[in-house]
Amino acid sequence: MHTILIVDDEQSIRDSLTGILQDEGFAPSSVSSGEQAIRYFDNERPDLVLLDIWMPGMDGLAALSKIRELYPEQLVIMMSGHGNIETAVRATKLGAYDFIEKPLSLEKVLLSIHNAMHISQLVEENRELKAKIAKDYEMVGTSPSIMELKQQIEVAGPTSGWILITGENGTGKELVARAIHHSSLRASKPFVEVNCAAIPEELIESELFGHEKGAFTGATTQRRGKFDQAHEGTLFLDEIGDMSLKTQAKVLRILQEHKFERVGGNKTIVVDVRVIAATNKDLEFEIQENRFREDLFYRLNVIPFHVPPLRERRDDIEALANHFLVHFCSKESRDIKALDEQALAAIKRYHWPGNVRELKNLIERMVIMTPGKIITKDNLPPSILHKQPEVFPELEIDNGSSAGSDSFKQAKEDFEKIYLLNKLKEYDWNVSKTAEAIGIERSNLHRKIKTYQIKLEKQ
Ligand SMILES: Nc1ncnc2c1ncn2[C@@H]1O[C@H](COP(=O)(O)OP(=O)(O)OP(=O)(O)O)[C@@H](O)[C@H]1O
Ligand SMILES: [Mg+2]
Repeated sequence: MHTILIVDDEQSIRDSLTGILQDEGFAPSSVSSGEQAIRYFDNERPDLVLLDIWMPGMDGLAALSKIRELYPEQLVIMMSGHGNIETAVRATKLGAYDFIEKPLSLEKVLLSIHNAMHISQLVEENRELKAKIAKDYEMVGTSPSIMELKQQIEVAGPTSGWILITGENGTGKELVARAIHHSSLRASKPFVEVNCAAIPEELIESELFGHEKGAFTGATTQRRGKFDQAHEGTLFLDEIGDMSLKTQAKVLRILQEHKFERVGGNKTIVVDVRVIAATNKDLEFEIQENRFREDLFYRLNVIPFHVPPLRERRDDIEALANHFLVHFCSKESRDIKALDEQALAAIKRYHWPGNVRELKNLIERMVIMTPGKIITKDNLPPSILHKQPEVFPELEIDNGSSAGSDSFKQAKEDFEKIYLLNKLKEYDWNVSKTAEAIGIERSNLHRKIKTYQIKLEKQ
């Protein structure tokens, strides 16, 4: 039941308002002065205050100012029999929601109260939604690489610099882009997302820049493009590696000149947009192959962000799994489930080719499919338990056939070579990292690389 505090020095008004509000299903209380109203707040917070202006001692405006100073969000409706525009303006400036003239009309009082309550409900809902959105975009993880990313976001976020985020599928590139937007001065402005890979080549320009009526068959009305929509905010160009050279040239021009024309139009539109781009492609390789403009790459890559794959930050797996468990259990209104020790160990061991997205999907499936409160090893799909074969076809040894390894010694060496090749590839041909990961001395690994004549492809 909504509580309403009536503040008026006239007993008859307090009594009649109390009666009316009770009949309407509210819970009214009343006091007779500004001072008493302030003291009332020591113990209680009414949903709404009806505050008379003319009272002996502390008057209504002084009380309003004090209340709003202590509780900036308190809803207050002023009442006055000597109302003039000037007082009404002052009250509004001090934060009153409405101003009702005396003698009070029952209808007006109730209408104003209902409107005020409605607004306060919307404000509350909005606050909850914002908190929920912020939670959905929370970046979980405390591994050194995630801590470094968070620090980079703090530093680069508030600037206007264009940013390029690289990383494998499902590592969290979009999450990073949103976190950058939220930590920027543009946070209250739009975050507009464009997936360059999902839009057909012939439509991407009209999607980004908009088009004029009649620009092409089917363009029956003028349309604002994503750059327009993101004005003063952030434009997230996802999968930028899939953008054609022609579109890249246009994007580069916006970067340099902050202006563009709609498709089929000649009016120049000036925009203030921060671009955050993301890709899972190796753009330096794309440049070599003449599929990506070098100048655009360097302009975007001023502040490079790299989101490492999950298998390189296994310390985060447990925290992420728990985070998703809480998320999906509350979404599905289930009791909180937990992974037992063995299930957790299996999840930590798995190599997660689909990264965080794969882990998130697995946990969602476990929450839905596991009847009990504890998720055991047996509940996990076999693919997670039996570590997937990590043999990359191109790395198989050509020594006739593996069945041709006649001796045990030869078979063991064959295996060792494949194993080392795969591990080296997994750790990006970094010998120290690989040695540490598989638990042998660096010098020992170097010796084996020499023995097996393994070519380090990158270092
Ligand atoms: N550190 C993290 N904490 C919490 N959730 C995460 C984290 N990283 C990723 N996620 C979640 O995993 C999912 C995949 O992340 P996201 O969409 O950002 O990846 P991506 O790199 O953009 O993938 P793709 O290359 O496939 O577009 C999202 O639902 C995201 O919220
Ligand atoms: Mg993405």
